[in-house]
Amino acid sequence: MIDHQAMESAYAAVKSAFPGAAPKIALVLGSGWSEVAAAFDKLGEISYSDIPGLGATGVVGHAGRLLRGKLSGIETFVFQGRRHYYEGVGWDAVAIPTAISKMAGCKALFLTNAAGGTVPEWRPGDLMVIRDHINMMGVTPLLGAHDPFWGPRFPDQSRVYDRGLQALLEKAGAAAGVALRAGVYLAGTGPTYETPAEIRAWRALGADAVGMSTVPEAMIGNAAGLRVLGLSCITNMASGILDQPLTHQEVTETTQRAMANMKKLIVQFFAELAAANIL
Ligand code: HPA
Repeated sequence: MIDHQAMESAYAAVKSAFPGAAPKIALVLGSGWSEVAAAFDKLGEISYSDIPGLGATGVVGHAGRLLRGKLSGIETFVFQGRRHYYEGVGWDAVAIPTAISKMAGCKALFLTNAAGGTVPEWRPGDLMVIRDHINMMGVTPLLGAHDPFWGPRFPDQSRVYDRGLQALLEKAGAAAGVALRAGVYLAGTGPTYETPAEIRAWRALGADAVGMSTVPEAMIGNAAGLRVLGLSCITNMASGILDQPLTHQEVTETTQRAMANMKKLIVQFFAELAAANIL
């Protein structure tokens, strides 16, 4: 259940911080991705703590700022950091970036995250285009009274992730010399990492990468008519694949190592997006 009034109040704060903003796309930078924001020319900035209902994120590696930026001539809302369902504050904070993006006129929502890889041949630092997802959270933000803002009562999910944007991202990877994996992202609630038995089960169900985010935003973004794109940094091998414990430190260290590739890919993607002129 997402409180519509909370979305309106959040958007009002952003609108007054960024007068005349006309973003075409929103980019959500997840765990360890924040530094990618430096690639954008900055037109404005607002702290999450100044956006009602969004509030400060307490997670290390999540900056908690919304930038109004421009890259390759494309005006973009760059969300540095995200709120998670595991924080236990409900869905408003998770959904507000997507709501703001839609209200501001964005046509596309580009979601990034850190994820554990379940494919033994993959390596930490690999980047994965999200083809589809599995919701293992056991809940969704759309439970409750129907809000037409989020599309029909029963949103179609046969193509959550936009094929044209995936193709552009893969074109960008080839042009920038950044190899890309592709696969299915599965979200659990967290905040625990998985047990080895869960990973074996989820791998059998079709998960190539597992994490604690992205699925709710992709779900509501798609329902609201945004073209959704998802990109995971495989920061670690999922539980039980290697004989070692999982830590958030490994997650942030891997994104640091992969940062040059992450930045190169995003910059090239925006160049491809500008050339394709599809938003
Ligand atoms: N599991 C869940 N979430 C994650 C992981 C993981 O292995 N790595 C980064 N986020």
